[in-house]
Amino acid sequence: RRIVVIGGGQNAEHDVSLATATAVAQALRSGGFDVDELTIDRDGTWRRGADALGSQAITSLAAALDVIERADVVFPAVHGPCGEDGTLAALCALTHTPMVGSGLRAGAVGMDKWATKLVAEAVGIRTAPGRLVAAAEIADIGFETDVVVKPASAGSSFGVALARDAAQLREALRGAARFDDRILIEDVVEGREIDVAVLREADGRRWASPPLEIQANGLFDTRSKYDGSARFTVPADLDGADRAALTGAALRMFDALGCAGVARIDFFLTDHGPVLNEVNTMPGMTAASQVPRMFAAAGLPYEQLVARLVDAATV
Ligand code: DAL
Ligand code: MG
Repeated sequence: RRIVVIGGGQNAEHDVSLATATAVAQALRSGGFDVDELTIDRDGTWRRGADALGSQAITSLAAALDVIERADVVFPAVHGPCGEDGTLAALCALTHTPMVGSGLRAGAVGMDKWATKLVAEAVGIRTAPGRLVAAAEIADIGFETDVVVKPASAGSSFGVALARDAAQLREALRGAARFDDRILIEDVVEGREIDVAVLREADGRRWASPPLEIQANGLFDTRSKYDGSARFTVPADLDGADRAALTGAALRMFDALGCAGVARIDFFLTDHGPVLNEVNTMPGMTAASQVPRMFAAAGLPYEQLVARLVDAATV
């Protein structure tokens, strides 16, 4: 079967998306699939091939759509806005091309941390108390207590900062406003940082990976996500009740959003149980990422994971 892997993208996670796409394409090729790659440059230009250098420029979206339309399955390995947020899923839906991962609705809601929070609370999953502000009103926001400031829609922790005083708050709000005009201000949650991945198989059955614990040196921020300094423990050392609460909440969230393929659902485990941090409907799948590690711990090697994702592709 001919699989088209899309990488890159027009947001801050461009390089991470290239790394995910490269890893996915390589695993599919060694699994015997016929793989074609499309790359979206930072400026939105579509190209055939795995990178901007040496790959042939495609000047029109129509030409890229033609490649998508002729694929048996599309693997949209683009994180963040204009990719993971449902935009690529919409192209596949409009061309009736089976694709890996969540459709438009789950992608769009999962990309938006405020919408995700509202869904989580509605299905009984706790999230950090917080509020949404418009970038236009940040000058009026005063410091009251320590908070975490995030763009509502972004990934890999771009634009996320902890603010412990008025100057840091001002800086954090300005930083987040560079990524989105909607900004989330949340209470700091004290807890262990634990991720659970959920995989939906071709027969519709979905199951949760063993939870993974992140030990970052301080914040698990953009730098520690990719410089190799964070340590992962998988399976995380958890008692049965905590494990059940985390995997139960992950499955509930996956179902509430109507996710497909694989999603990684990130929590803080507090003294009062799990608090949802966020949902990633196209989680990082580089060699250093959590998802491959989690499924490997469940006895599913990376090559088989991507093959199963292709098998589970939906129109
Ligand atoms: N947004 C990054 C790629 C992740 O979820 O792993
Ligand atoms: Mg994320």
